[in-house]
Amino acid sequence: MATATLPVTSLALEEIELGNPDTMLRDDIDGIFRLVRRQRPIGFDREFPAAGMEPGPGFWSLTRHGDVARVNADWETFSNLPAVGIPTYPTKTSIISMDPPVHTKFRLIVNRGFTPRMIGRLKEQVWEHARRIVDDAAARSADAGDPEVDFVTEVGAKLPTMVIAALLGMPAEDHELIYRLTNTFIAPSDPEYGGSVEQMLAADRAMEEYALGLGEDRRGKSGDDLTSIIVNASITREDGTREHVTDKEFAEFVKLLMIGGNETTRNAIAHGVVLFDRNPGQRTLLLADPERRATQAADEIVRYASPVSLMRRTATRDATVGDVAVREGDKVVMWYRAANFDEEWLDEPYRFDITRHPNDHVGFAAGGPHFCLGASLARLEIGAMLATVAERLPHLEVTGPPVKMRTLSSHGVKHLPVRLGRTA
Ligand code: HEM
Repeated sequence: MATATLPVTSLALEEIELGNPDTMLRDDIDGIFRLVRRQRPIGFDREFPAAGMEPGPGFWSLTRHGDVARVNADWETFSNLPAVGIPTYPTKTSIISMDPPVHTKFRLIVNRGFTPRMIGRLKEQVWEHARRIVDDAAARSADAGDPEVDFVTEVGAKLPTMVIAALLGMPAEDHELIYRLTNTFIAPSDPEYGGSVEQMLAADRAMEEYALGLGEDRRGKSGDDLTSIIVNASITREDGTREHVTDKEFAEFVKLLMIGGNETTRNAIAHGVVLFDRNPGQRTLLLADPERRATQAADEIVRYASPVSLMRRTATRDATVGDVAVREGDKVVMWYRAANFDEEWLDEPYRFDITRHPNDHVGFAAGGPHFCLGASLARLEIGAMLATVAERLPHLEVTGPPVKMRTLSSHGVKHLPVRLGRTA
């Protein structure tokens, strides 16, 4: 197997600004992370104004796999409160911004919807959805004479939206609305998606109202969709009393699932198409045994693409990370996207290899209480979609570079020009 070229950057270390969303749009971003990880693995970065908000006091950047894993595990010192993005936006999304023991109680409510057994039951349905989405897009494209199309909107985004909507019991006609609102929420620094904190807050309110409407409909009724499970759940409060989940708690939960279920998986699928286009040998490997290799391929895509670029923690007390003294209240940012290429942890990290085993990347976080609740579901969706694309669209051609989202927290692909070509 050929050795991958190592990424480089023309920037000097002191010119690098990891707090600047424009840095993430640079073609040499992988070279930038590599330089930082080798020469300043824990460094302090300044913040830039985000979506019209004043910049915060700056943050520690962790880029090594080991440091990220240690901080991820030590939730008592490194809290998910008050926020997990670098700016503290005035929004909140449920369990991701809680610490144990409260976090544990809330997570348990939805856990049973995401166990391997539950995901196993969805398998057939997800593969079937993937086939239908790909075949419909191919038929539309063939009718139009195989023009250049946007893979993200035509194919990639459809499966995650469909699956999370089905899990939440949302009607099909609302898919488009949820797609738009989650985009505006996640990337307030991207002009195409809203471009301001006001737009982000408006999307937040709209998602909350939508969730409340959904909950109203299911309250007091039994149902196995996640909305019914959450809206009818009770929780033991700190004083020992047992109460129903409040409207606000319910709406935040649903918002988090809408965002987590959509955005990240769609980005992984788009990155996967680019990665297979650049590594045709890996595509052949996938096709040789799609059912078995799909999940393994999904993990390598999540490692290589790191759709969630970072998560922030806030120090609850003075502490040491590596050889750096962190003060209480400091923001500590785990760059999952950099840690996933740490040469001290992984051989040839720049080689895209769907047979890697083990593959203990940090794309879904590094264990810890917040490890991605939807990881098994995401693996299923990414694997099913990419195997289906490889099988049914053997002539698919990526015709231009992916258009990236302007944001620090996600490695997002807004558009990906492709020609779908003849079906198999
Ligand atoms: C490629 C796809 C995905 C990636 C890369 C991803 C990544 C992550 C990461 C890194 C975290 C940890 C946050 C932290 O460290 O604080 C997380 C948490 C979470 N993810 Fe995912 N995710 C994906 C798909 C999904 C899906 C499909 C769902 C649900 C349907 C989901 C739901 C969640 C939830 C609810 C949490 C919060 C867990 C908690 O705080 O306890 N994710 N995800």
